[in-house]
Amino acid sequence: MNVHDIRRQFAAVFNEEADAAFFSPGRINLIGEHTDYNGGHVFPCAITLGTYGAARKRADGMLRFYSADFADAGVIEVPLADLRFDKAHSWTNYPKGVIKFLREAGCRIDTGMDMWVCGNLPNGAGLSSSASLEMLTGIIAEKLFGLDVSRLDLVKTGMKTENEFIGVKSGIMDQFAIGMGKKGHALLLDTGTLEYSTVPLDLQDNVIVIMNTNKRRELADSKYNERRGECEAAVAELNTLLNIKTLGELDRQTFDEYGYLIRDGARLKRARHAVWENCRTTEAEAALQNGDLAKFGRLMNASHVSLEHDYEVTGRELDTLVHAAWAQPGVAGARMTGAGFGGCAIAIVAKAEVGAFQENVGRIYTEAVGYAPSFYIAEVSDGSRVLDEDAEA
Ligand code: GLA
Repeated sequence: MNVHDIRRQFAAVFNEEADAAFFSPGRINLIGEHTDYNGGHVFPCAITLGTYGAARKRADGMLRFYSADFADAGVIEVPLADLRFDKAHSWTNYPKGVIKFLREAGCRIDTGMDMWVCGNLPNGAGLSSSASLEMLTGIIAEKLFGLDVSRLDLVKTGMKTENEFIGVKSGIMDQFAIGMGKKGHALLLDTGTLEYSTVPLDLQDNVIVIMNTNKRRELADSKYNERRGECEAAVAELNTLLNIKTLGELDRQTFDEYGYLIRDGARLKRARHAVWENCRTTEAEAALQNGDLAKFGRLMNASHVSLEHDYEVTGRELDTLVHAAWAQPGVAGARMTGAGFGGCAIAIVAKAEVGAFQENVGRIYTEAVGYAPSFYIAEVSDGSRVLDEDAEA
């Protein structure tokens, strides 16, 4: 979609010219799953699928939202003076939360705006359509109201919206990847310190295939918050002898020595995943830097096994996709990506094999699950941005 189309669609809804057009990507996570709220490392990248937006500042105090993806809902109006979570306001709760928290942080947003959005991320598929929308709102507010706000503050505001407005106790990975993404690069982020580096994503003769289970996942309804609670409980048990804030502080050996303090088998498995996955993530980054894609792929596979058996967040659909992917020629590695419980998996596949890969995995999945998966080739994008007036987005 180009700026001209975005502007035209904005004008058709609001009968005015937009002040500017915007794009905010989605994300995939290469490895480092369920580690971000455990103070560990993550290794995501922003993708070219995402959410387009256009907006215009208003003179009054009304916020007016329109999504081309939920056209039936029409224009949803919310007074700036009344930014409360309201289930009936569906997707607009994300922008409402971001604007509320920006204002609470002292940003001068004294008038309303008209905001148009249109996404091409499959909804509820675990590619972070919600964080994409949060970051889109953040950069729209920054541009329209001339805010002096750092990108990291916008990232944190997105996370706060998710945690305190929507009620999902997620970590910082999604907003960070989407806000900070760099074309052709993955981000190695230490969620304990927020230090990060950009790593060239050289896949040689391979591509990343995103595989969508087409099983909708609802983060807020899922066991996500329960997993977080289990990890916190494990930290408390370990702290009868240790003094740690998060599981991300432990190496494998220390965890092994003190693991006996965790008095419940399920919690032990959850904690083991968090510790080992964190170690795998830095090892995977090193493998990628060394051009060792075979090792990178094996670590992806190990990540999935751990998410399947120790963290137990995969489910039949994701397991069927990933196990089918492992069996195909030209596959370096495959794993679920994101929170799990449905959603998407990714595979690193030799370019020459992609056609056969999609056909075979698609057939195996459809036979086992009863409906077809979808496939997309991931292209790695820059983070959330204002669109140049004459650029193709
Ligand atoms: C969701 C959350 C992230 C992260 C992943 C799992 O995407 O929003 O913060 O916890 O799940 O790695």
